[in-house]
Amino acid sequence: MRHLFGILAAAVLVAVLVAPAALAQAADDGPALTAVDGLTFNDVVNENNLHKLRELGQTVFTTPFNTRDGLGDGPYDAGEFPNFLPGNRPTLQGPENQFLRVNGLDAQSCNECHVIVSHATSPPTLGIAGVGGVVNQAIILPTLIDVADSQDDRVTYVAGHVPDLPLNPDGVADFNGRFANPPFLFGGGGVEMLAKEMTAELQGLLQDALAATPGTVTPLVTKGVDFGYITTIALGEVEFSLEGVGPIEIDEDNPENNLIVTPFGRKGENFTMRDFDRGAMQFHFGMQPVEVVGFNNDGDGDGVVNEVTEAEMSVLHIFDVTNPPPVQAHRDAAEEHGSMLFNSIGCTDCHRPVLYTESRFLPLAHPEVPTDPSANVYKHIDLKKVGFKNHGSGVAVPLFSDLKHHDMGPRLAETFHNPVVRNEEFVTARLWGIADTAPYLHDGRAPTLWKAIEFHGGEAATQRASFLALSVADQKDLIAFLKTLRTPGIHPKAGVIESGDEIAWEQQ
Ligand code: HEC
Ligand code: HEC
Repeated sequence: MRHLFGILAAAVLVAVLVAPAALAQAADDGPALTAVDGLTFNDVVNENNLHKLRELGQTVFTTPFNTRDGLGDGPYDAGEFPNFLPGNRPTLQGPENQFLRVNGLDAQSCNECHVIVSHATSPPTLGIAGVGGVVNQAIILPTLIDVADSQDDRVTYVAGHVPDLPLNPDGVADFNGRFANPPFLFGGGGVEMLAKEMTAELQGLLQDALAATPGTVTPLVTKGVDFGYITTIALGEVEFSLEGVGPIEIDEDNPENNLIVTPFGRKGENFTMRDFDRGAMQFHFGMQPVEVVGFNNDGDGDGVVNEVTEAEMSVLHIFDVTNPPPVQAHRDAAEEHGSMLFNSIGCTDCHRPVLYTESRFLPLAHPEVPTDPSANVYKHIDLKKVGFKNHGSGVAVPLFSDLKHHDMGPRLAETFHNPVVRNEEFVTARLWGIADTAPYLHDGRAPTLWKAIEFHGGEAATQRASFLALSVADQKDLIAFLKTLRTPGIHPKAGVIESGDEIAWEQQ
């Protein structure tokens, strides 16, 4: 980190002589993140020791940032609107507090929330890049929480609030934000590779459709996942019929923006982990990445510039995508039967057991171009070295997801007032590692796997009904099968993927 304080060292020296406050500043603990000091983006590009880069990224992930690193937003600015966005947010009980908790400014390190590798062991297995419990959840952008479930008609519209919450005394503490449970980061490299290849293929299909004769219907199928179709209206003009991909409003002017596969975040809002991290840094810590606010620009006015450098974001991204993939235990007869049921009642329609990449070399880009994964690539990561198994020229990613958005029905719908992805839609949860990651669903509302399944609705209503119609013994077998899906390094019988759709696993 380069600091305004550091850059202005001479000025501080002068100030020390005249101002006691400046003396306290100069003598304080200093920034917490120093391991990446001096590292430039070019150094990252030229460094071939992946292990070293991953270690640096892990340091970024686990360091508890302080104000000298840039922790905290700048002073609250009443004139800024909307004033709930990162930059000049208010803080709790005093302007010198760095934290808000509801709506971010909620932690000092990434690992505070991504900390549980297995919740199925006793004691829980703690570690780096795991899931979080309910207490680690992010409370995203609420402007109104009716804690007492009141029917208070004084709660009317004021700037930044949304007036149309149904303030009924119905046992629901009305809330217009998002409440999100932290997923783990294991296997993220394989997921990112799948999404990039799918995006590239969809973009190619769009180009075909733009050049096709009017009336042509181009199905948007990639890796066997069906995202709808495009109809060619005239040369260079198309109409989208999208399924599970794209923004709420079709971008007519930039058709390529509608075909970006975004697997990250529970809603599926981010196209890479780095894309997610840019938001996480700002939301949780008030730390502003240079790639967002620009070099030497103190965007939040907290006296620190270059709070997260391009090199720091790059090594953090390398850490993200080199976390090992989850594993699967050898199955006994009951678990094998459960796996067959999972398939026969249609859970695999969305929870696709395995998707394959064409290449095993994940491209890392900076700056990233969402519609073109091949732009600005500075490095490739060999996913085989990360722990994925070869499949042809690529790898197998046994994720149990189709990376599509699905309508999950009214019971799971959120009440967020400004959604990017519809309130009732979520990206299909990846079930790999699920044995170890309670609580379940986007807001951790399901303490058990059975309850997580029972909460399904919307597009999954038929499969839910089929599950509930199974005998108790069959339901137990299906859940026993899900419990063979383990986080890396946990299960004594953990095996490795061989190949093929039937997912054969070796016993160790
Ligand atoms: C306050 C807790 C908290 C902190 C601190 C936190 N996260 Fe998260 N993380 C979450 C939650 C909650 C989600 C799910 C968010 C959503 O659904 O939009 C998440 C999701 C993610 C994802 C997407 C994973 C996926 O597979 O979809 C990544 C990547 C991630 N976090 C990285 C980070 C990094 C890097 C940091 C530090 C810069 C960080 N997180 C700090 C709670 C946290
Ligand atoms: C229409 C697509 C779809 C179908 C069909 C479907 N699911 Fe899901 N599943 C999802 C989505 C989307 C989520 C995430 C919902 C959320 O976070 O609120 C999910 C979440 C889950 C979870 C919790 C995951 C976690 O990490 O919290 C489990 C367990 C699960 N599904 C099992 C099943 C089983 C078993 C079946 C078959 C009976 C099934 N699903 C059928 C889309 C589907």
